[in-house]
Amino acid sequence: MKKFVISLGVISICAIFSAIAFAEMPSPAPELLWKHITKESPYKQWSFWPDHQGMQPGRAPHGPLHKVYVNDRALHSSQPPVQYGSIVVKENYGKDKKLKAITVMYKVHGYNPDAGDWFWAKYSPDGKAAKFGKPAGCVGCHGTRAANDFILVHEFK
Ligand code: HEC
Repeated sequence: MKKFVISLGVISICAIFSAIAFAEMPSPAPELLWKHITKESPYKQWSFWPDHQGMQPGRAPHGPLHKVYVNDRALHSSQPPVQYGSIVVKENYGKDKKLKAITVMYKVHGYNPDAGDWFWAKYSPDGKAAKFGKPAGCVGCHGTRAANDFILVHEFK
């Protein structure tokens, strides 16, 4: 009986902690995700992957220059798939170094199990969502690297 009570206690403490850890994560909706990455946890204070720092040249369709910011969960995921709650924010710049669009990948448990559980969004620089959810374009092109958890700029070692 004593053992049972102790394990029940441990289980509820774990449940409370994981609820707190995930409570701050937004639901997969474009407005909530934008609010999260700009107000609740501003992405400009996040990190770069060590193998992809600062401004880098890029390819179509994203444009000639970009920066890719990752939150702590993505940064600390040493192997694919990355941890749930990982967010990758890509700033897309023109040749003139003007910000043109912001594209985001957000790993949400159970959101899209067939394609890595990623929620995708493309925003204008002022936060209007042009595309979001499971756009076939994003999923299809990134899906060529499904084994690397749909991530193209970073290699897990
Ligand atoms: C035709 C291929 C293609 C399509 C479509 C595409 N991407 Fe990408 N994406 C890339 C490439 C290539 C990179 C690597 C960086 C670069 O060259 O710009 C990339 C990088 C990224 C990154 C940085 C993390 C990573 O995977 O490397 C994010 C975030 C991203 N794309 C989001 C999106 C979103 C959101 C969409 C849909 C609105 C989308 N992408 C559509 C090819 C594509």
